[in-house]
Amino acid sequence: MALSRRKLLRNGWRAGGGLLASAAAWTTWELLRPLASNAAGGKLPVGSAADYQAGTATYIREGRFWLANADGHLLALSQKCPHLGCRVPFCESSGRFECPCHGSIFDIGGEWIAGPSPRGMDRYPVSLQGDVVVVDTGKHLSGPDHGAKRFLTPAKGPACKEGS
Ligand code: FES
Repeated sequence: MALSRRKLLRNGWRAGGGLLASAAAWTTWELLRPLASNAAGGKLPVGSAADYQAGTATYIREGRFWLANADGHLLALSQKCPHLGCRVPFCESSGRFECPCHGSIFDIGGEWIAGPSPRGMDRYPVSLQGDVVVVDTGKHLSGPDHGAKRFLTPAKGPACKEGS
């Protein structure tokens, strides 16, 4: 009887460990997986231009892009890294986009700074309708070449990813 209880406990621990490992693997995959598409497609109003202050990047979940204000220029930057498609987060401390997969770094305007990405972050056309910012997620534009350095400034502070 004692033996079967011990066996039961051991199997319980194994099952729990397996569940934890599966949950960790799923979370990692969801964070880093390449995206099947860039955005939902269509024109998306994202609020007033005054909502987006210079030097900020705001994630727009409905369109899967970042709305960045680079030196007064509003840019809608695809969250999908041009290298192999990972989601690129914005690092508040450095003021840059830092890809977690292979270390590509982009400035606040999505222009390439370092890493294996072949170009800057891809983007969508932005227009103003009155005071409302509208992003056309149906028109995907390739990011600028490596030579573009319109918004390159020193990092605001430490990088979010070690080695960046
Ligand atoms: S997917 Fe971003 S650097 Fe490779």
